Amino acid sequence: MRYGVSPDHPRIKGIITALRDVLDSGQIRYFGNVRYGQDITLADLKTHYHAVIFSTGAIRDAALTIPGIEADGSYGAADFVSWFDGHPDVPRTWPLEAAEVGVIGNGNVALDISRMLIKHADDLLPTEIPDNVYQGLKANPIQDLHLFGRRGPKYVKFTPLELRELGEVRDVDMVLDERDFAHDDAYADETLAKNKQVLVMTRVMDKWLQDQREREESGKHASRRLHMHFWSKPIEVVVEDGRVAGLKIERTAPDGDGGVIDTGEFEVIPMQALYRAIGYFGSPLDEIPFDETAGVIPNSQGRVLDLEGHQIPGVYATGWIKRGPVGLIGHTKSDAMETLECLLEDRAQWWEPEATETDAMPALLRSREVPYTTIEGWHRLDAHELGLGEAEGRTRIKVVPRDDMTRIARGE
Ligand SMILES: NC(=O)c1ccc[n+]([C@@H]2O[C@H](COP(=O)([O-])OP(=O)(O)OC[C@H]3O[C@@H](n4cnc5c(N)ncnc54)[C@H](OP(=O)(O)O)[C@@H]3O)[C@@H](O)[C@H]2O)c1
Repeated sequence: MRYGVSPDHPRIKGIITALRDVLDSGQIRYFGNVRYGQDITLADLKTHYHAVIFSTGAIRDAALTIPGIEADGSYGAADFVSWFDGHPDVPRTWPLEAAEVGVIGNGNVALDISRMLIKHADDLLPTEIPDNVYQGLKANPIQDLHLFGRRGPKYVKFTPLELRELGEVRDVDMVLDERDFAHDDAYADETLAKNKQVLVMTRVMDKWLQDQREREESGKHASRRLHMHFWSKPIEVVVEDGRVAGLKIERTAPDGDGGVIDTGEFEVIPMQALYRAIGYFGSPLDEIPFDETAGVIPNSQGRVLDLEGHQIPGVYATGWIKRGPVGLIGHTKSDAMETLECLLEDRAQWWEPEATETDAMPALLRSREVPYTTIEGWHRLDAHELGLGEAEGRTRIKVVPRDDMTRIARGE
């Protein structure tokens, strides 16, 4: 909620209320600022608990292996999201120096980062963006953002609400290419056109096309533009003096079966920065098996399996580290239910902890000088940030450095 959801999505961030109710119920003991594999090990968990559920998500970018992707000015969406969400473990400054910027991907993360890049910083001021992020965005010289999808407008992974929102950004013209809407595509017409979400999104884009024609007649233009390029497969990053200078794409066309064929037609779109938002990828955890291809912990309905496919007693997974980085926050609920049902069914094979006294885990953390935080500390930091915001007439101002957050939470 704090580091994955865009600051201009307060409705989604509101889910924190439900989380807080659960944490405040008195049935859960919260230890924050504790790193598995560093501060505590699997053996520690076995000593103190009957079982463990890993719900560590997917926080890295999936790899895009095209020439030039390592050039200066080429970024992963995950790092940029961490920056604008004020994650303590990324640098405080972000190089926003490009007038023309590319974003690869047609999912909601691509929309999040496109909005954050193209919006005027003052329109983000009522949100909880940290000061360093506001200052960075204020100096952003962007004029044109190019968003690339390797398939067509009916194949996007956006959700309708988020797509519509993009068109509502102040002082930004949506620019579409009429060619992208002119393909004969039996699969899209017969299968996708019946999908309600696709229908809504098609209407949204039709309206943008119409607005574009009207703009051409009236000559009234916004100061920033967001260009959507469909049927555009990334081929190579054009690099000059070690820096991003453009993106070479190959035009694709529908294969009639939901996929694409290459057309042999190439284009280069000039840009000075490029972001890839082509999906997230999980990270391995110490002593826990990891599927390097899918980026998840191997599991059956949340029961963690070893590399031979046998269940590892007491170890469970849920969320994106269980099923991969797809789905909205709400989807993780059914996922968690499945894992919990398995955990409860397996009661006979749970671990037999030796140290179950209430103070055993805090004592262990104290003995290792781990500056852990509690739910009371979580509330202290929350109140502190709301107070900072109130003084400035804003919702909240996030505290970013880890030491400051820990100090405030621990009341030091
Ligand atoms: N509600 C919200 O505001 C919100 C915000 C952020 C994230 N989320 C959710 O979080 C989940 C993850 O989102 P996401 O955007 O990371 O992933 P996603 O929805 O899976 O979208 C990934 C996009 O990257 C494209 N792609 C993958 N590999 C590519 C390649 N090699 N070259 C070019 N394009 C490539 C995919 O195209 P193909 O379709 O052709 O594979 C797809 O358009 C989704 O369920 C999303 O809805 C929701």
